[in-house]
Amino acid sequence: MTDYTCDTLLTNALLFDGLGGPPTRGGLAIRGDRIAATGDVSDWQANETIDLDGLCLAPGFIDVHTHDDLAVLNDSAMEPKVTQGVTSVIVGNCGISLAPYQNPVELVPPLGLLGTVDDYRFGSFAAYRSAVDAASVAVNVAALAGHGTLRAMTLEDTEKPASEGQIAVMRVLLEEALRAGALGLSTGLAYPVARHAPTEEVVALSRTLAEFPGALYVTHMRDERDRVEEAVGETIAIGRSAGVPVVISHHKCIGRQNYGRSVNTLAMIDKALLQQDIAMDVYPYEASSTVLLPELTRHAERILVIDSAAHPEFNGHELSDVAEKMGCDQEDAARRLAPARGIYFQMSPEDINRIMQHPRTMIGSDGIPGPQAHPRLWGTFPRVLGRYVREDGVLVLEEAIRKMTSLPAQIFGLARRGRLQEGFFADLVAFDAETVLDLADYDKPDRASVGIEHVFVNGVAVLSNGTVTSARGGRFVARGEA
Ligand code: ZN
Ligand code: CU
Repeated sequence: MTDYTCDTLLTNALLFDGLGGPPTRGGLAIRGDRIAATGDVSDWQANETIDLDGLCLAPGFIDVHTHDDLAVLNDSAMEPKVTQGVTSVIVGNCGISLAPYQNPVELVPPLGLLGTVDDYRFGSFAAYRSAVDAASVAVNVAALAGHGTLRAMTLEDTEKPASEGQIAVMRVLLEEALRAGALGLSTGLAYPVARHAPTEEVVALSRTLAEFPGALYVTHMRDERDRVEEAVGETIAIGRSAGVPVVISHHKCIGRQNYGRSVNTLAMIDKALLQQDIAMDVYPYEASSTVLLPELTRHAERILVIDSAAHPEFNGHELSDVAEKMGCDQEDAARRLAPARGIYFQMSPEDINRIMQHPRTMIGSDGIPGPQAHPRLWGTFPRVLGRYVREDGVLVLEEAIRKMTSLPAQIFGLARRGRLQEGFFADLVAFDAETVLDLADYDKPDRASVGIEHVFVNGVAVLSNGTVTSARGGRFVARGEA
């Protein structure tokens, strides 16, 4: 006899399965940390029933591109994510992960994006994983090992290619991370800590990935500007020679002279897809944000200065104005403001739409936690649902949801997540498709979105009637582990 009792019953919803199928009317039963039933739940009894009349119910969103490595330890409520309907974050992107790296003397850029020297305190990936488990986080946390971190830990001089011996050491560190549940390896080949790494160094490390089923290579490519096609070519070649799936992070074409080149890059990806596994992620903004570096100032139409330690009085100012006040050019101004971060307006809406519409594209915020952040930290997912789906029709709703749920779960190997299906984990979001919208903007980047009503992580309500609760349902999610 079937047991029709459960902990929480959600009724009268518009159900999105996460796989991209058309929505259906029905409910969902949560028992423990799992989905016990979906569809017709009229026979079910529960301690608590929530009527979702007028709301959509979807698998919780997976933010595939985050820099929440430290945030999950220090701010376990994860309000910027929970208020967007995000139930899992993937940390360790762009080649930077908090582990394995212990007692650094100084941080080579961009390692400082994650925290200070004192925050790099995990000698092994397993130690980081234990810290995440102990932190009792509101959302699930899955992690990549960062190539830049491995380099900083292993190489005395990161401005050189790694030697054979150093590659061997990094492979041992990477193996430890993969055994401890890391999803794969990330690189940030455009950044100082990694840009002297030749393709062969990355291929050698990626061969280690090939020994772990499901492990993947994720990259912030060497170039997203004038040589973006070359960089896509390098990424495809790395995946092919190592025999591993690849993900291109925050795919974009930077600088006016490069607008429209996503036509070429997506054609390259389509061609490669006939022979190997490739996917990418994108965020829905025309501005990017990262460390303020002189060499990054050339392609942007305008740059906002944030988080300058040397000249905090210029935070929130345009770099061109700062340069004028300082009586120098923008590159020099960037040098004088360091360490600082910048918001770079430098992408075209046509490229963003085209990339977002590609069937292998997922959504990732690339949010960098902290004050005066880019609005993507708080707004990415509701922005896609409100502006790209409802207002502009760039995607249909079920396809947008697929890009936020089953697609990332499948690509990153998050077992039994990303679908509304019996036996899957009860990671869920209920939202109003008519009102969901991001409110965070460049002036007020830390405003919570509207229209996200209920969020469950492993069956635990972390957002209830639009309000963050004190409950914590997240756990460390290891590669392929259900
Ligand atoms: Zn990046
Ligand atoms: Cu990133």
